[in-house]
Amino acid sequence: MAADSAPQRTQVAIVGGGPSGLLLSHILHLSGIASIVLERRSRAYVLERIRAGVLEAGSVDMLRSIGLGERMDREGRNHDGSYIVWGDDRRLLVDTLRFAGKPMVAYGQTAITEDLYAARDQAGGVVLDEAEDVQPCDIDTGNPFVTFRRNGREHRIDCDFIAGCDGFHGVCRKAIPATTLRVFEKAYPFGWLGIMSETAPLPDLVYARHDRGFALASMRNERLSRYYIQCSLEDSIDDWPDDRFWEEIKTRYPADIADAIETGPSIEKSIAQLRSFVAEPMRHGRLFLAGDAAHIVPPTGAKGLNLAFSDVHYLSRALISHYADDDDRYLEAYSDAALRRVWNAERFSWHMTRLLHRFPDDGPFDRRASEDELDYLTRSERALGAFAEQYAGLPFEW
Ligand code: APR
Ligand code: PHB
Repeated sequence: MAADSAPQRTQVAIVGGGPSGLLLSHILHLSGIASIVLERRSRAYVLERIRAGVLEAGSVDMLRSIGLGERMDREGRNHDGSYIVWGDDRRLLVDTLRFAGKPMVAYGQTAITEDLYAARDQAGGVVLDEAEDVQPCDIDTGNPFVTFRRNGREHRIDCDFIAGCDGFHGVCRKAIPATTLRVFEKAYPFGWLGIMSETAPLPDLVYARHDRGFALASMRNERLSRYYIQCSLEDSIDDWPDDRFWEEIKTRYPADIADAIETGPSIEKSIAQLRSFVAEPMRHGRLFLAGDAAHIVPPTGAKGLNLAFSDVHYLSRALISHYADDDDRYLEAYSDAALRRVWNAERFSWHMTRLLHRFPDDGPFDRRASEDELDYLTRSERALGAFAEQYAGLPFEW
């Protein structure tokens, strides 16, 4: 859509065209609710970002229920459980299929974003990219609006609600008064070095707890593998040529698994910092936050994208109840319901990070305590069941 013809009014103005914003826009559209998505970056930039890639069963069901399951079912890989390996060749299968009843699916966020953009385009959805200086305004009145600049012109869109789906560095969270917002935060003293390679992945996800640090073997599809190793925050990707990466990751796995890793040139390599972050409440007046705008998890356990999906599940249901049934109970309940699920995933990701990484000030006691917990998971069905239930993601409350 040309900037000059940017519409002046919509029902829901959505700030951010990542997975949260696009998914919300599409679900609202299927219920006849109009929205406009305002994205700061170019579409090419958004589509190139590589992020996590494991979908909980609840996220898989959501994509299928809105007609976006076809490519995921074709290209994604069912992921019935993950292995954890540690110590002197100890192994544990976290059998999520057995404990949670439905498979998870390995399918990358990059592909999901492509599918969502294609669906919005096909339905004539309005996604305005390169929207600069987006500002949510009058959020604590009944007549909120957003302003922005695009192609050098100023715009204003009036709306009923604003959805802040603009990620961790967005503007929407900052529009909530500091006197209202509570922030909980934790930084981790290491990073994840990740590579993508066009090689066949291992048949299962394998997490490794090793004295040299954490490692993870993951996948995107039959010919696309994703691997990570714990690295120092001082490292840069130039310190890690491919040969060094493969050599290092193989030292962190038992010999048979290391031998099964198919190596090849990396097609992407990056270092991510790990952070836990929650902002409460997730609503102020007519502004509702969803996804990374409200919370960040360390990648261990792949909860980030799934939390974005669960926020959008609750928020879309609440907005649909508002428009279809004139019922605002779900809008009132949104922040609390979303945060209950967020906190479970926050605690679980923090715990899994603690369990599987080497922290700089860990001593022999910490190491034994983590190994004991893994050992306990191998001996107690109940403990493993609780771990698997959380790894697979809690069901939605409504
Ligand atoms: N105005 C408009 N758009 C903005 C602004 C702004 N001021 N600030 C940020 N954005 C855009 C970003 O460019 C990005 O495309 O908002 C989008 C937010 O997308 P994500 O950061 O991907 O966040 P979200 O959509 O909530 O996706 C869930 O959880 O853990 C992660 O990997 C997971 O990225 C995924 C996320
Ligand atoms: C990934 O494939 O990117 C991935 C998988 C599992 C995790 C984290 C990341 O726990």
